[in-house]
Amino acid sequence: MNKVRTSVLKATAIAPSNIAFSKYWGRKDNILRLPANGSISMTLSDLLTTTTVEFSPAYERSSPSDKKDQVTINGGGIEEGEEMRVIKHLDRVRKLSDINFKAKVASKNNFPAGTGLASSASGFAALTLAAISAAGLRLSDKELSILARQGSGSACRSIPGGFVEWLNGDTSETSYATQIFPSDYWDIADVVAIFTEEKKEVSSSTGHEAAQSSPFFKTRIAGMKQKNEEFKRFIKQRNFEKFGQLLEREALEFHAITLTQNPYLIYWTAGTLATMKKTAVLRNKGLPVYFTVDTGQNIHLFVEGKNIKRLVSELKKLEGIKNIIINKPGEGTRLSENHLF
Ligand code: DP6
Repeated sequence: MNKVRTSVLKATAIAPSNIAFSKYWGRKDNILRLPANGSISMTLSDLLTTTTVEFSPAYERSSPSDKKDQVTINGGGIEEGEEMRVIKHLDRVRKLSDINFKAKVASKNNFPAGTGLASSASGFAALTLAAISAAGLRLSDKELSILARQGSGSACRSIPGGFVEWLNGDTSETSYATQIFPSDYWDIADVVAIFTEEKKEVSSSTGHEAAQSSPFFKTRIAGMKQKNEEFKRFIKQRNFEKFGQLLEREALEFHAITLTQNPYLIYWTAGTLATMKKTAVLRNKGLPVYFTVDTGQNIHLFVEGKNIKRLVSELKKLEGIKNIIINKPGEGTRLSENHLF
């Protein structure tokens, strides 16, 4: 870690969301956010969070009765629990630097938050790089990934670009994400079908804590190492059919845990289910397409680059589709000169 003292304690970062091919669900340490298993993901080109952080003595003086960091998302307020998570993350950065000032944080997403599009991943990745840079620190990608992980687990996978592995370390220093293949290695796309922009009822954070109560959890964990090896092999070989089949099997296995944990969680809606079934119909019609779903109603459909147009025109025929977002493998978290305030 390098300290670079600057007079302006302000920085802006842009971070992508990522989609897990193999899912992080359940943790071996809830405080440090150490996952029960390693996971493989793709960094997304078109689901982005931009965050500006400024540390200043002015933010102490402006509200002496309420000496708190000021946080806004998309120009509005933020839920208390979420605000505490952001403040805790700023505290981690203050601890690493010698800055004790409060901060102003403004963040904006180019997609609806809390709908299973992993806004916490891009959100905490952007917050990590913006806050570290505003504090005048320089961290390696590995250090940034470790720090981002402590804000939100999946955020560690949004630091690198392209195809990414979150290593299954047993300590904070060994639990971070690294690039396994660059973004131009394989021309595939994640076409996100959005059915609702409503926030989900139960956050992933709460869901993780009950994962181990599923009677199938241990069986799942026992198979994860091999599954991740298979994902890496199919990506390396650019074997779309094998990759897609494994992608769907893993998504359904992950949801088998959410459905059987106590209390159970059902994230799908009628639209999610109809689209899952539609992928099989489309494959029978000669369009290779495979789905995955996280903790939300919206569904991610994978096709090779050459088939994006065909998939989009099929999706438009589906009832209830509000929006379609096309993602290619994207670049990782980066700094920007365009401050939000
Ligand atoms: C289903 O990273 O949102 O999307 O660490 O509590 O912030 P926290 O959880 P989060 O969990 C993501 C769960 C998932 C699977 C995945 O992205 O691997």
